[in-house]
Amino acid sequence: MKSFIENLPKAELHLHIEGTFEPELMFEIAQRNNIDLPFADVEALRKAYDFSRLQDFLDIYYQGMNVLHKEQDFYDLTWAYLKKIHSQNVLHTEIFFDPQGHTERGVAFETALNGIHRALEDGRSQLGISFGLIMCFLRHLDQDDAMKTLEQALPHKDKIIGVGLDSSELGHPPEKFTAVFERAKAEGFHIVAHAGEEGPPEYVKQALDLLKVERIDHGNRALEDTALTQRIADESMALTVCPLSNLKLCVVDDLKNHPIKKMLSAGLKATINSDDPAYFGGYMNENFIALAEAVDLTQVEIATLARNGFEAAFISDDEKYRLT
Ligand code: ADE
Ligand code: ZN
Repeated sequence: MKSFIENLPKAELHLHIEGTFEPELMFEIAQRNNIDLPFADVEALRKAYDFSRLQDFLDIYYQGMNVLHKEQDFYDLTWAYLKKIHSQNVLHTEIFFDPQGHTERGVAFETALNGIHRALEDGRSQLGISFGLIMCFLRHLDQDDAMKTLEQALPHKDKIIGVGLDSSELGHPPEKFTAVFERAKAEGFHIVAHAGEEGPPEYVKQALDLLKVERIDHGNRALEDTALTQRIADESMALTVCPLSNLKLCVVDDLKNHPIKKMLSAGLKATINSDDPAYFGGYMNENFIALAEAVDLTQVEIATLARNGFEAAFISDDEKYRLT
């Protein structure tokens, strides 16, 4: 089963590039930028990765990205991720970045964008990995801030294919961002949003009805509402599910209780993704393997989950055919 998963061609659709920041690289970049990290060493930092809810993780995640200042820092971060997934037979990746996490610290939008995008281009030419880049609005900030960020992205439509919504979910429902998503859609961006990770089914409904998402990031709590689950299945709306993230952020108490089989038997187009692999203990293969072992996935189920990743990707049918 392990080698079956390792050999399977995979597409990743839910990955925060700032969440791929391995402690070793974080210390290296901190040192060259003369920044003191509030941890003695790599082990001390890793020990801090003990979360009981999303916010515990986000506090450390934002602290980690503070060491990214120069275009080369963003390039190195992205290149390390691409090399890693290349070794795991990931052929296509659609990655998130959080521009406001950088611009609010005085780093130019283009510094982050160009560093990430240049690495993605090199990944395509040197490693054969196709990609899409999606920028997320931080939902703990207000809609005006998101709108300013959208305006910064407009000259870069050639590099950014979509917009998403991430950060602290509870207390920040999708409806807070209706206008900015309406504008983003009119500007031609693909639309996704985190919904139903910690937030209630109502947030998933708002993501569908108000933001007009094309995929739901996480979506676990949609299962609490039978009519909503049926609707998501009827609309062939993909869920980008993140098993190790769900475990580390206590969305599930044990991977054995992960709802992936319920999702599949309800007819949902579930995909497997790593979310923030440096913080949650694994990239694509580790997510597939841990989940398959915990809930005893069959080979057919594993192959279905991997195929769903390509089907739900923002690529042409020709490209899907080429990759699978
Ligand atoms: N930002 C990075 N990872 C996230 C997650 N899993 N949920 C919400 N915001 C995030
Ligand atoms: Zn996420």
